[in-house]
Amino acid sequence: MSKDLDQEKRLAAVDAASLVEIGMRVGLGTGSTVAYLLDALSARSIDATFVATSPRTQAAALKLGLHVEDFDEDATLDLAIDGADQIAPDGWLIKGAGGALTREKIVAASAARYVIIVDSSKLVDVLGPPVPLELMAFGLASTLARVGSTTLRSSPPSPDGGVVADYHGEVHNATLLSRRLADTPGVVEHGLFAPALVSEVLVGTGNSVQRIVPGG
Ligand code: A5P
Repeated sequence: MSKDLDQEKRLAAVDAASLVEIGMRVGLGTGSTVAYLLDALSARSIDATFVATSPRTQAAALKLGLHVEDFDEDATLDLAIDGADQIAPDGWLIKGAGGALTREKIVAASAARYVIIVDSSKLVDVLGPPVPLELMAFGLASTLARVGSTTLRSSPPSPDGGVVADYHGEVHNATLLSRRLADTPGVVEHGLFAPALVSEVLVGTGNSVQRIVPGG
């Protein structure tokens, strides 16, 4: 029987929406799973404040009547909810297929509780390429030469002016690759998210939702 991945995304999103309480300040990720989250939040009409990780999410949230604020002055987020591209058994994630990885990681790091919502196809045995990257435009050729095995996307620059790209080398050891990419001048951010960032993962699985706590 083929899996209904959209239904799984929706189930995980509805579960996560129920975590939002009155008065909370909540970070919203980017992507097709988050689109279901926005619908579920709008249906709840809860009096909360939201911060968006991309212009796409911001526009969709505003259209649904959610109260969206900039993320410039108030650093606190009670909760953030986002999708992911791959989740390894040890809790490492790859994110950024939608190109919003830098803002997504800032929001993730700022949230007291960071919840990932996915369909069951996102659980993998081993992380593999591509790993999305945001790169500085200045010195781009030099950065690409040092990172290696990277292709540029044809998409427009990120909202912060960065060049969105994908690293196609093997991941092997996420900790070491994460460190190497972070230590490379010109790499603004990479799409490897460490397990320590993640409070829980809600996985739509058939007609129910499985809850995974990395390291738990
Ligand atoms: C956006 O930049 C990404 O990090 C998304 O969170 C990730 O690609 C998951 O997207 P979907 O929910 O569309 O699969």
